[in-house]
Amino acid sequence: MSELRPTETGLKSGLDRDRNRGDDAIPRHVAVIMDGNGRWAERQGLARTEGHRAGLEAVRKIVRAADDLGIGFLTLFAFSSENWNRPKQEVDLLMRLPEEFFELDLPEVIERGCRIRTIGRMERLPPNVRRTLENAKQRTESGTGMQLVFALSYGGRAEIVDAARRLLREHEQGQLDPDGLDEKMFAAHLDLPELPDVDLLIRTGREWRISNFLLWQLAYAEIHVTDCMFPDFGREELEAAIADFHARERRFGQTGAQVREGS
Ligand code: IPE
Ligand code: IPE
Ligand code: MG
Repeated sequence: MSELRPTETGLKSGLDRDRNRGDDAIPRHVAVIMDGNGRWAERQGLARTEGHRAGLEAVRKIVRAADDLGIGFLTLFAFSSENWNRPKQEVDLLMRLPEEFFELDLPEVIERGCRIRTIGRMERLPPNVRRTLENAKQRTESGTGMQLVFALSYGGRAEIVDAARRLLREHEQGQLDPDGLDEKMFAAHLDLPELPDVDLLIRTGREWRISNFLLWQLAYAEIHVTDCMFPDFGREELEAAIADFHARERRFGQTGAQVREGS
């Protein structure tokens, strides 16, 4: 087994031991760029905001399906730092969705033993959204099942810069030896240190780009891009993405022969 297996990186986080945490059956960390809501709506002559509402239903489906499949971490890109540049009316609608999701779904999330986490610049979110998220995080703190991570007001570069800032502060206080800095220590200063590397990145909406998502954690992710617009994404599409993941040979810099020999 390779030393670089991402399923073994990241810090220990007190998760339940039963749930699949990265054997070959199910990817441990699945991250999703939930794209295509606007085009889905426009194709049907609907307002883009209708697409976002339909996207919320797809979030419900993917959360249930991912949990049923035993995925350890599901990270959903819900709102990027760049999405603040959209028209105000669209941003306002998008900012209402976290409340709509948790109002209806928090009991089920709790029942499932999921734990809600967030990454991104929370301080930019309206106070009511922050409150909703804080409440969901608190109420699921003891959840030992799937960790459901919402990336909101999130940008991968900003997360890396924030980590660098935290490290510089520690250095200023004499708590950090620059020669001791390595990848593990750097990763421990990211927004959610226990978030492991992504195994499978899914992007809906047929765009082949990363859009500033999880730049650090995606280093060795397998990437599945689908034509499916996010509102049409459900259990079947998630299973297809996982089947695609299984068809890949993850080499982590080694040769195919080395991987097959298990050296
Ligand atoms: C993704 O769908 C949702 C967010 C970015 C919040 P889009 O709104 O980007 O949909 P398209 O790409 O315009 O179709
Ligand atoms: C990425 O989608 C952000 C989210 C899914 C939240 P975008 O639609 O904003 O990405 P770009 O701008 O087309 O790359
Ligand atoms: Mg888009």
